[in-house]
Amino acid sequence: MAKVETTMDKLVSLCKRRGFIFQSSDIYGGLSAVYDYGPLGVELKNNIKKFWWRWMVQTRDNIVGLDAAILMAPRVWEASGHVEGFTDPLVDCKKCKHRFRADLLENLKACPDCGGELTESRQFNLMFKTFVGPVEDSASVVYLRPETAQGIYVNFPNVVDSTRVKIPFGIAQIGKAFRNEITTENFIFRTREFEQMEMQFFVKPGSDKEWFERWKQDRINYYKTLQIRPDKVRFHQHGPDELAHYAADAFDIQYEFPFGWKELEGIHNRTNFDLNRHKEFSGKELTYYDDESKEKFVPFIIETSAGADRTVMAVLSDAYEEQQLENDSRTVMHFAPEIAPIKAGIFPLVKKEGLPEIAYKIRDELKPHYPVFYDEGGAVGRRYRRQDEIGTPFCITIDFQTKEDETVTIRERDAMTQERVKINNVRSWLFEHIDNRVKFNTL
Ligand code: GAP
Repeated sequence: MAKVETTMDKLVSLCKRRGFIFQSSDIYGGLSAVYDYGPLGVELKNNIKKFWWRWMVQTRDNIVGLDAAILMAPRVWEASGHVEGFTDPLVDCKKCKHRFRADLLENLKACPDCGGELTESRQFNLMFKTFVGPVEDSASVVYLRPETAQGIYVNFPNVVDSTRVKIPFGIAQIGKAFRNEITTENFIFRTREFEQMEMQFFVKPGSDKEWFERWKQDRINYYKTLQIRPDKVRFHQHGPDELAHYAADAFDIQYEFPFGWKELEGIHNRTNFDLNRHKEFSGKELTYYDDESKEKFVPFIIETSAGADRTVMAVLSDAYEEQQLENDSRTVMHFAPEIAPIKAGIFPLVKKEGLPEIAYKIRDELKPHYPVFYDEGGAVGRRYRRQDEIGTPFCITIDFQTKEDETVTIRERDAMTQERVKINNVRSWLFEHIDNRVKFNTL
């Protein structure tokens, strides 16, 4: 049966109803384009970040991690080109005061909301400004970082000097970024506060094109491993008018969201633009000495830059399905087991005859290792449906046979198949189906 595509209304409603995502400051009417993650959402997002970290850092010898501060010396943003060039063209409606990105209006001469007259277009810098210390003057201005990448570039010499990394190698980081976007859209797709998962791979000039191709392939494999449907992801190469000021070549990985094909991740050949600029602005030596070839050079950088919130958005869109079954219907989220917020539901068939006691024992044994959910309310079918809707991959049922042979049933969410497993083997069964499912490749 072909999957019927979901709508944003259905996703937003499920996210609120089941505690995945809420509007920020909801009781005050919300803050535009800022969102909070609820009890299930925080698990989902944390699991996505953990999966990315495992894929990019922990299973490789040539990538190390970093956690740089959000606030950085303001000169960083002059060197990076963001003070001068991180702008969007902005127009205001003189009548209704709505603001628009001029480049998205497609030659419209009047306000698309009320038909009012528009102002001339002007450049609007997307960085949020704040002040360090008690005096609010121009000398104390700092910016909330609009990308995590710069924290990696300025730490390049620290990492080289304090570890044994040798080029080619990467530095990876997950963290918050902020952009005062003019137009925000589509729930958590484009927000003003978001998280990035970025990796900067430092290579010898001349080998950059080859590494660019290798990273493109690796990153597509990543989304397949995350069980995103392969026909829903594709590459989009940036044309000359789309390229960022730092990039010699760039491909987006796009996902087909309910509102169309949009960027999920950017892969950029940033050349040695950033390190050269920091060298110039800081006066510090950012060249690399290669022991083997005895050469000195400023490395080129291949960047892979994914949004954590945008991945949540893609995963939610991809996972959602409404299914008509023979005598029933269900909404099911097909999350990959690694990122599912709850790994197993634990159900005693009935609330008596010693079954809950066995179920508690199983729950208590699994709890230190996996988030599990104990539920004894209502018919088992209804309990399955509640777990299906939040994407729990496995449900463990304790029934009368359990008392005879110490086995339970484990029911798999997608195929709805069941198998009997010895209680003593439940933990290793979950390990095989969750932690050990993916065979990680290294580049
Ligand atoms: N360091 C390179 C960089 O920041 P980008 O294409 O501007 O490149 C990379 O951003 C990724 O960050 C995007 O592919 C997207 O996933 C995420 N992202 C960017 N702006 C965002 C926003 N306003 N809201 C949510 N995610 C955003």
